[in-house]
Amino acid sequence: MFDKEVYVRRRRTLLEKMSFIPEGKRGIAIFTGNAEAPQNYRGNDYRFRQDSTFLYFWGIDEPCFAAILDLDSGDECIYGDDVDIDDIIWMGPQPSVASKAERIGVSCSAQYADFDKAVLAARAQGRTIHFLPASRYYNTLKLASLLGIPAESVRKVLPVAGGHGCCGKAATASEELVKAVVSMRLVKEDCEIEEIDKACEIGYLMHTEARKGCRPGTKEQDIVGRMEGVTISKGWGVSFTTILSQNGETLHNHSHHQIITPGRLLLIDAGAESNTHYASDFTRTYPCSGKFTQKQKDIYDIVESANGLAFKLARPGVTYRQIHLAVARHILEGLSGLRLVRGDTDEMVAAGVAGLFMPHGLGHNMGLDVHDMEDLGEDYVGYDEDQKRSGQLGLGSLRMARRLQPGHVVTDEPGIYFIPALIQKWKMEGTGGDFVNYSALEQYHDFGGIRLEDDLLITADGARRLGTRRLPVTSSEIEEIMAREQETL
Ligand code: GLY
Ligand code: MN
Repeated sequence: MFDKEVYVRRRRTLLEKMSFIPEGKRGIAIFTGNAEAPQNYRGNDYRFRQDSTFLYFWGIDEPCFAAILDLDSGDECIYGDDVDIDDIIWMGPQPSVASKAERIGVSCSAQYADFDKAVLAARAQGRTIHFLPASRYYNTLKLASLLGIPAESVRKVLPVAGGHGCCGKAATASEELVKAVVSMRLVKEDCEIEEIDKACEIGYLMHTEARKGCRPGTKEQDIVGRMEGVTISKGWGVSFTTILSQNGETLHNHSHHQIITPGRLLLIDAGAESNTHYASDFTRTYPCSGKFTQKQKDIYDIVESANGLAFKLARPGVTYRQIHLAVARHILEGLSGLRLVRGDTDEMVAAGVAGLFMPHGLGHNMGLDVHDMEDLGEDYVGYDEDQKRSGQLGLGSLRMARRLQPGHVVTDEPGIYFIPALIQKWKMEGTGGDFVNYSALEQYHDFGGIRLEDDLLITADGARRLGTRRLPVTSSEIEEIMAREQETL
């Protein structure tokens, strides 16, 4: 948890950002923290994870809290229940809700059920109620019932300041509030960057452990277990479900049943969440035998230089979409050198040929969520008024297209994949025209995929790779360190 002043300042900034709405018409902003989520029966819950926006403004990392910020008066109140003797028996003594509120600079506190009463009273007065799209089903249903709207409207975002706010027909999550929150959380404060650096250091240690475990005969699942143990012992846990597979061409591959086999590639995309819930997200791809074949190295070096190119281009004023396109161009030039594609590079970029090999975007925002704030709407987070989402494969999946600003934290994660079903589909449909050398691609059907990912902070005049040390990344660094680690183990 940060100092009290951090939370006070954030809520004051939010009030200022919402003050474009005429006074008296602003209404209230309501924030629902998460409740416990049972794995199977009540009492056997998943490990509690607070809603990230609730953490950002209200800091309290416990279930069943809510808060109201009155956008007209500036009044604020925290809602939660003090423990009773039953709770003390099972959970031990807990600080009072009032003291938790005081810790974040809020002088008003009340019982959790009073939140519902306050919202219903505001509804009865016809006040506008701004809320964010809920990320969890519990809060979706709670808000739907409190506001008298269908559950699906709780996750829809539309402007409400025009007056159709809470109490009627068209109520949805508030676009004004979403935009204000996104504009704040997108630009990381120094205290947040410190936490992301910590998460990156844990991520570094996780990946180091995993790389050491990458040796023929080992089960992928063993590597996952040892790697996740690192972040469980040093941080909160993983920042997303680990991706670790020799079938790296499946972008989000969560099955870990295979045995490490010489000659294959192992793709590891994994990150840590710090104890304050900030994320890291790194990807490395290793030769299972410790040495790349020439064919693997040719592709690896293209991805590695694409990752370096994105880092070099990342600076304030440039859009991440431009950098994605520069990376797409670089990948196509590299593949052209290997005669897997042919023709004018600009025409290939325009035709979206890179999507056959990199069907995802170059990166996403990262912070309290590994895909930061995507519960608030991917386009609100990653796209600005001057950006439109493309319909092309690859570019269309770009989660962050915005013009970069100092304080943005983005991932730099280019990849090249050979996805047999996708190649077959494009070939059958004639997508990519003559640009794609389908007969040469037949030699790559069992290649797999390569992705390399670092986390970048945009600075005043460029970018910094987050974390105090960078995981080995060039093909020669990888081969050297794997050879050294094989000797010492
Ligand atoms: N690291 C997983 C992802 O970015 O989707
Ligand atoms: Mn990522």
